[in-house]
Amino acid sequence: MRPFRLAVLVSGEGSNLQAILDSVHGREGIDVACVGASRPDARALERAREAGVPTGVFAASDHSDRAVRDEALAEFLIAHDVDLVVLAGFMELLDPAFVRRFDGRMINVHPSLLPAFPGVRAIEQALDYGVRVTGVTVHFVDEGVDTGAIVAQAAIELPYAPDIARVEEMVHAVEHRLLPEAIRLIARGGVRIEPAEPGARRRVNLEREPNGER
Ligand code: GAR
Repeated sequence: MRPFRLAVLVSGEGSNLQAILDSVHGREGIDVACVGASRPDARALERAREAGVPTGVFAASDHSDRAVRDEALAEFLIAHDVDLVVLAGFMELLDPAFVRRFDGRMINVHPSLLPAFPGVRAIEQALDYGVRVTGVTVHFVDEGVDTGAIVAQAAIELPYAPDIARVEEMVHAVEHRLLPEAIRLIARGGVRIEPAEPGARRRVNLEREPNGER
């Protein structure tokens, strides 16, 4: 049977990519077909190469504008025949035409309990606000900033007087579990986006909770 093919898009360290390579790639009929990076110096590219996964670099500075860059990125993903695009620390906005093209087939991992603290520096935003509980969200990507239908969330209770390095560690540990679980659930057809009424917010229907606990 044809495997379910993932593309993972990255910008930096790639610890989430590593979690996907270690716990999803080559198992349960799921393959990482390619990795695309927004920066040539992303450590994530080394991780992909070590795993023998094809890579591509799509730096905005190599193209006349974002739409042109995203067109090249879309061609790369289509050439690799991908079923799902996973933004795993991809730190750039994507062109609306690109987002529409992969509508319902692109997810993102975000380091907060959305809709709280969307956008960049989400962990710092949460700590500055003084929340006692934060977390991780995996959601479909729509044309807004971190506004798409939510697939999975996990909460993290913060220690008294949390320091940023410790919270980042806690968030990463949760991401490395939650993102692979969400991918497996989507790959086996357990996630459906509810058709929204015009103007209504789209939501996800789950076959069961991705962490299997409820
Ligand atoms: C992750 O914490 C991810 O949630 C975050 O970037 C980090 C990438 O780490 N993404 C965002 O903030 C997107 N808004 P990694 O490169 O080690 O996977």
